[in-house]
Amino acid sequence: MLKKQICKVLSIILVGTTLLGACSKKEEEKKVLVMGTSADYAPFEYVDTANGEKIVGIDVEIAENIAEELGYELKIKDMDFNSLIPALKSDKIDFAIAGMNATEKRKKTVDFTDTYYVASNFIMSHEGHITKLEDLKGKTVGVQLGSVQEEYAKELEKEYGIKIEARNRVSDAVQELKAERVDAVIIEDSVSTGYLEKNSDLKGFKIEGDTAEGYAIALKKNSELTKEFNEALKNLEESGELKQIFEKYFNK
Ligand code: ARG
Repeated sequence: MLKKQICKVLSIILVGTTLLGACSKKEEEKKVLVMGTSADYAPFEYVDTANGEKIVGIDVEIAENIAEELGYELKIKDMDFNSLIPALKSDKIDFAIAGMNATEKRKKTVDFTDTYYVASNFIMSHEGHITKLEDLKGKTVGVQLGSVQEEYAKELEKEYGIKIEARNRVSDAVQELKAERVDAVIIEDSVSTGYLEKNSDLKGFKIEGDTAEGYAIALKKNSELTKEFNEALKNLEESGELKQIFEKYFNK
């Protein structure tokens, strides 16, 4: 009788420890990195409509590679570009990759990895009505809210008296241009190609030599991950994989 009871107690303990074991194993599996992005920026990050609602692109593949190398499962959160840095600060995401320039201003509040790409500003207009900066005098110009292009537009505002229309999504700014509610939009040459290919009514030109900073991954200020991310990014570059990712999306 006593033996039976001891066995019962033992088996409860055993089941308990097995369960505990299973729990801690689960904890391990849960090592997740949450990436924030603004999926309105093909070929860097965009929703592959042919493939459900999947977010794909150069940045996504870079992040997937880094997460894999560092042993994390990757989760992607799509949000407005302007919300990325606040989301980092409030721990809603672990890092942001969104064709984001590592600007001095942003560096005050977040960490950046080394840069992995350099783009230039690009002015796109309807039927190419705007062919040089001077043509912008008194015109209405669309930009993405919180972007470097918005900052640039503010400079042009002083110089040429343009009126700025900022939108949360790049696609919305371009939509305004197509509907002729703005005269031009400032985007980047890296994403302009896609729009020009799809919209024969749009034309544009690149602003040479005004982009000092390149794209980098943003992490929380003083994050321990920054160093690891840099190492993973370096490996990606040295192995030639980074180049392959770029080729895959730019030649699409
Ligand atoms: N490179 C610009 C910036 O850093 C624009 C980036 C916009 N990215 C995006 N996924 N919409 O401000």
